[in-house]
Amino acid sequence: QAMQQVEQASVVVLGTGGTIAGTAAQAGDNIGYTAAQVTVDQLLGANPMLPCALGGRRLVTEQVAQVDSKDMSVGIWRALAVRCLHWLADASVQGIVITHGTDTLEETAWFLQALLRPGKPVVLTCAMRPATSLAPDGPQNLLDAMAVVQDPEARGVLAVCAGVVHGARDVRKIHPYRLDAFDSGDAGPLGYVEEGRVRWVKSASFEPDPVVNWSLDAIHLILDQPVWPRVEILTSHAGAGGAVADLLVQDGVQGLVVACTGNGSLHHDLEASLLRAQASGVGVVRATRCALGQVLPKAGDELAHSNGLSPVKARVSLMLERLAAQATR
Ligand code: SIN
Repeated sequence: QAMQQVEQASVVVLGTGGTIAGTAAQAGDNIGYTAAQVTVDQLLGANPMLPCALGGRRLVTEQVAQVDSKDMSVGIWRALAVRCLHWLADASVQGIVITHGTDTLEETAWFLQALLRPGKPVVLTCAMRPATSLAPDGPQNLLDAMAVVQDPEARGVLAVCAGVVHGARDVRKIHPYRLDAFDSGDAGPLGYVEEGRVRWVKSASFEPDPVVNWSLDAIHLILDQPVWPRVEILTSHAGAGGAVADLLVQDGVQGLVVACTGNGSLHHDLEASLLRAQASGVGVVRATRCALGQVLPKAGDELAHSNGLSPVKARVSLMLERLAAQATR
């Protein structure tokens, strides 16, 4: 019976592009390459260890997009969420692996986690070197992602890179070049992949803060919205004024996330502009521009804080909140 279940189980791999699917003219060139050139089928087909890593499970692949993830768009996010919903509802699917560029991987991870909160694992993986590199990191990352997606403890949206498993909430790209480019900050990683085995150091379902649990109907309503709210990110810095925020409000922005100094503080000119924006109905959220830690709320705060989310993830959450409000209006 157990054997039969293993044979029937499938793993879905959704390709979106990135350096993992990149090619360079020279094998020695690890920066002068073009991302998103190799299809997900070619990528998997070129990995001789994949059949072994699949352990008899059926492999299903889909090319959802083919982009350098700096160009990630709302349209691709919507398509990705729709395909994840489709496959997650299939009882034979054990989990989903998504190949993705490293540059916005954390945003896609948080978008999928915040919206879908999947019980099954959805594992994003990537590479820092193109597929044509003399020593590419993509093939091992892919195998590690396969190990994680099949692990009975794995759940929710995870990121796997350089043998480290990160949770969607905390994962952050911290280095533009080295192979171990991701970090989970104060929270630390969830686990490590060692020779095809996952060593968890924390439960994959660990969630420090309450997040919205959208119903399936609400998720579909959100995904069906033809126009997604415009939410921009600003930084508070020495000499920051309010002109950019004022212009964005005039231009119809619906949300503003600010990468604040320290514990959510703002240049007073920018703060005045943001308070005006909030009074006019624009959603304003303060995150910190510090690499570690989070904005701690204090008495008298007039602007919301990001619940520990980084600026780019706070933007995703604010966008989803506004979308949900728009969808149920
Ligand atoms: C990308 O994010 O698509 C390019 C960079 C990378 O994957 O490392």
